[in-house]
Amino acid sequence: MCGIVGYIGEEQAAPLLLQGLEKLEYRGYDSAGVAVYNGERLDVAKAKGRLKVLNNLLDGGKKMQGTIGIGHTRWATHGKPSDINSHPQTSVSGKFAVVHNGIIENYRALKDHLIRRGVNFTSETDTEVVAQLLEYYYRGDVLDALIKVLQRVEGSYALGVICEDHPDELYAVRKDSPLIIGIGNGENFIASDVPAILSKTREIYRLADNEIAKITRMAVTVYDLDKEIVSKEPVHIDWDVSAAEKGGYEHFMAKEIMEQPKAVRDTISPRILGGRIVLDDITLTPEQLKGLRRIEIVACGSAYHVGVVAKYILEKMTKIPVEVDVASEFRYRTPIIDDKVLVLVVSQSGETADTLAALREAKRLGARVLSIVNVVGSSIAAESDDVIYTWAGPEIAVATTKAYSTQLAVVYLLAVYMAQALGTISDQEYTDYIAQLEALPDKIETILQHKENIQYFASKYFNAKDIFFIGRNLDYAMSLEGSLKLKEISYIHSEAYAAGELKHGTISLIEDGTLVVALATQKHLFDKMMSNVREVKARGAVVLGLTTDDCTEIEKETDFTFKIPQACDIMLPSLAVVPLQLFAYYVASMKGCDIDKPRNLAKSVTVE
Ligand code: AGP
Repeated sequence: MCGIVGYIGEEQAAPLLLQGLEKLEYRGYDSAGVAVYNGERLDVAKAKGRLKVLNNLLDGGKKMQGTIGIGHTRWATHGKPSDINSHPQTSVSGKFAVVHNGIIENYRALKDHLIRRGVNFTSETDTEVVAQLLEYYYRGDVLDALIKVLQRVEGSYALGVICEDHPDELYAVRKDSPLIIGIGNGENFIASDVPAILSKTREIYRLADNEIAKITRMAVTVYDLDKEIVSKEPVHIDWDVSAAEKGGYEHFMAKEIMEQPKAVRDTISPRILGGRIVLDDITLTPEQLKGLRRIEIVACGSAYHVGVVAKYILEKMTKIPVEVDVASEFRYRTPIIDDKVLVLVVSQSGETADTLAALREAKRLGARVLSIVNVVGSSIAAESDDVIYTWAGPEIAVATTKAYSTQLAVVYLLAVYMAQALGTISDQEYTDYIAQLEALPDKIETILQHKENIQYFASKYFNAKDIFFIGRNLDYAMSLEGSLKLKEISYIHSEAYAAGELKHGTISLIEDGTLVVALATQKHLFDKMMSNVREVKARGAVVLGLTTDDCTEIEKETDFTFKIPQACDIMLPSLAVVPLQLFAYYVASMKGCDIDKPRNLAKSVTVE
């Protein structure tokens, strides 16, 4: 996600800002920019692409003079990656410059409000609304203007702000998106994360939600929204630099597993307004929905596993036939596609060659393409008729976790949205599904709070040679993801199997001590699953059962049990996947594997 840096002191700001942004590159971004007060006005430089483009443009910062400034690496959410959409965003007169991490959820309404009052906007970003509102409310005091702005905007934000009328004041604001203040000697810093300032200071303040910091060279004053001063205790950072880039986690995968509640919340919340699902992202009309003969889902790897989950859910909710295919097979099987088929493409990177080729084949055959993508402006997004972005932020670890979870969240949003438009669910069901969706992030958080139970089980079986994942219906779909996660990062052979299919051959592989992970979250199939558990137990298997926390029967059948919070059947995959991710992570960690960069794998497979 985006990276923020800011500096006020006696040194030239631009070189320090660029060095700080370099330390935040791990967060993933698609453009960068800096703004510095040069003695007369705010000098702004920004560029799409890697940080080195900006560095070269500014000759390492030498081309910008001034000792106060802000900088930003942008992970696009609203508006494609471009120079004009890069931060800092400025107000119409150039008086204010703003950098932002997060999402202003009501930016559209605020933007329309200002446009009606004659304010000219230049970018597609939500962030520009903050800069324009600051100028709109400014009457000489930046803090007063900021407080007024914060009373209007909704969403998540970490903000860095400078104003050309007050060149000795740097402002920082935090709500939901982390922001720290680095305390120096005659100089102070702001940053999204510790790595950006660790070379300059180890003393920091961590801003809490709804706190505003007014920062000068000699002082940091923190206020609440009532303009009351808040006392802050400095925190000493004793991380080593490499650890800091992972936010203190040992691996990016661990960090991204833990970021899932926020990623799912960021993906869902802006699309539930006034108790209704609002998918402004798509132009598919209810008439076009009613005219669909079939939905065809194409993707690869974990994204394909999302498609398998989506098949069960979309067919159940919309009564539209759904097929799902790995993209590399779809293209070569002469698929029956026409304009009455909606092709749903799922891809975290938006650059997977097989998936992009399948998309192009589907369009050539006349299909309408709707894609679920995590990287704004990626090739798959650009070539789709409609795109619903997951707002997981950049995912660094090769093994996907938070992007997968946000893809599931979009599948739920889409399924409920379509079912309501098609009239295949009642108004009460619609309301109930929305409530269930909004409850997901906290339930994921609950599971993460019990992660040591999974760690304990992994410690007993990380030397296993073969591990089977079995399940029925949505639990089978989850078995696919659980097995792939384990294989990808621990290199242990694993298979996912439809539990009812095991007895048709593969059960011959079960012998004394074989580890089987039995997913049994779907209540209507619980008894059938227990029969399958008894089948493998009878042949010597050790069974880890995964079910919901209201189930009391499973302990009689399994050797170990992990329980997840209850939810409606279609949303249980979002909860079941978390222990599966944790199991794979802990096993691989105990085996000493290169978790973030597994052998033979790439984060985005851009070759066929
Ligand atoms: C998942 O952990 C793997 N990294 C891989 O299967 C991945 O899901 C697949 O390559 C598809 O990538 P995409 O979502 O970027 O298209």
